[in-house]
Amino acid sequence: MANDASAVFDTRSSAVSNDPLADPFTPPADSSLWRKNFLLGAATASYQIEGAVDEDGRLPSIWDTFSAIPGKVLAGDTGAVACDHYHRWEADVDMLVSLGLEGYRLSIAWPRVMDTTGAPNRKGLDFYKRLLNRLKEKGITTFVTLYHWDLPQHLEDRGGWLNRDTAYRFADYADLMSRELAGTVDAWATLNEPWCSAYLGYGNGHHAPGLADGRFATQAMHHLLLAHGLAIPVLHANDPASQMGIVANIGRGTPNSDSAADQRAAHLFEVQHNAWILDPLLKGAYPQELFELWPGTEPLILDGDLQTISAPLDFLGINYYFRSNLASDGAHGFREVPLEGVERTQMGWEVYPEGLRDLLTGFNRTYPNLPPIYITENGMASDDKVIDGHVDDTQRISFLKRHLAAVDQAIKAGVDIRGYFLWSLMDNFEWAFGYERRFGVVHVDYSTQKRTVKRSAEWVAKFLKERKAQV
Ligand code: FCB
Repeated sequence: MANDASAVFDTRSSAVSNDPLADPFTPPADSSLWRKNFLLGAATASYQIEGAVDEDGRLPSIWDTFSAIPGKVLAGDTGAVACDHYHRWEADVDMLVSLGLEGYRLSIAWPRVMDTTGAPNRKGLDFYKRLLNRLKEKGITTFVTLYHWDLPQHLEDRGGWLNRDTAYRFADYADLMSRELAGTVDAWATLNEPWCSAYLGYGNGHHAPGLADGRFATQAMHHLLLAHGLAIPVLHANDPASQMGIVANIGRGTPNSDSAADQRAAHLFEVQHNAWILDPLLKGAYPQELFELWPGTEPLILDGDLQTISAPLDFLGINYYFRSNLASDGAHGFREVPLEGVERTQMGWEVYPEGLRDLLTGFNRTYPNLPPIYITENGMASDDKVIDGHVDDTQRISFLKRHLAAVDQAIKAGVDIRGYFLWSLMDNFEWAFGYERRFGVVHVDYSTQKRTVKRSAEWVAKFLKERKAQV
């Protein structure tokens, strides 16, 4: 950062002051975050918070099956109870509202709302109707993700995302949901992070359903994106007033040295992380370099698929967490070289806000048709403890401040970014890491289900209050 003005609110590490009167969070006066139409909210996902996995006709999902297999999830944790949000949703909505948050991104559990024949499960649907109606009554902007990884197990039993038919089942599901919930959803996202579903679920087996084959990953990705593309016109037809989009997790890769080989390695990392998803969505073609990186993994694509996949979007959701440092693997790929002496979170992820800014400005150059952006997830895990009724999550305050500064910088550089959702509203089931990793701005005591607002949430609330009070 060369100019002095940015030093007050830049993206570099800054210790949060111990002085309780010092303000560790508030953005500078010229920040775009002060704009009242810049949406600030929080996000969650069904399997991570709801629990009640056997109630009211909910069917098993691939995460119920996967987390029951010993060794797949840290400490053998499962989402069976999670934050018990299925029963505590009213208090959770009150908590969201009391923090002054303006947007809420939630996901629907597909296995809760449809039976094995595709018929609606009324009880499951009613849960989401009550929840969304309440959110609307409270004036909250609602972002609903249709698929945040909890595929019905019966569909996995027929091949899951390796089976092209699943894409058509997804379109049926999108049809049902948008007919039932139209009017209560401001924005629909078809999929959350297809990279994770395809690569972690079918490519390396770290996530449900736990398969590990490179060809599976690219085929699963193709069917996921096809599902997305088939759903978009259905959502538009049923709920024309709403915005339609998709959520992608993006990864920043930087080279370990100036050598051409390491620079190529970093580039290929971003090809498989970002272009694998964004190119078919925004250019209607997979990047050829993907198949140079992973030879022999070309998926089966039928005529018209890429046209379906590249239907225009109203928004693109971006999830960002960290960067990866890369060197050449000596052949045609890359290997990760973890940097020493950098700031990391409880996940071991490097805190690197510049990565978010640089990726966003880069996409703005690469894709002339880049839709308006919402940061649909950003946040960090820390080993938070409640002490005397408080959680002093100082690293998170500093993390959020720096990442919001990065967003502001990207906006000032010309990227159309319209909002930001904290990951997450509350601590929850962090997939293969279970309950150990705490991403919430609200702490959850899993033995009592008590929620404790962390300092980070207090600061966000304070900022939102000041922003609302401005004329
Ligand atoms: C993202 C997921 C979200 C959460 C965060 C930490 O990949 O979308 O559910 O687990 O990571």
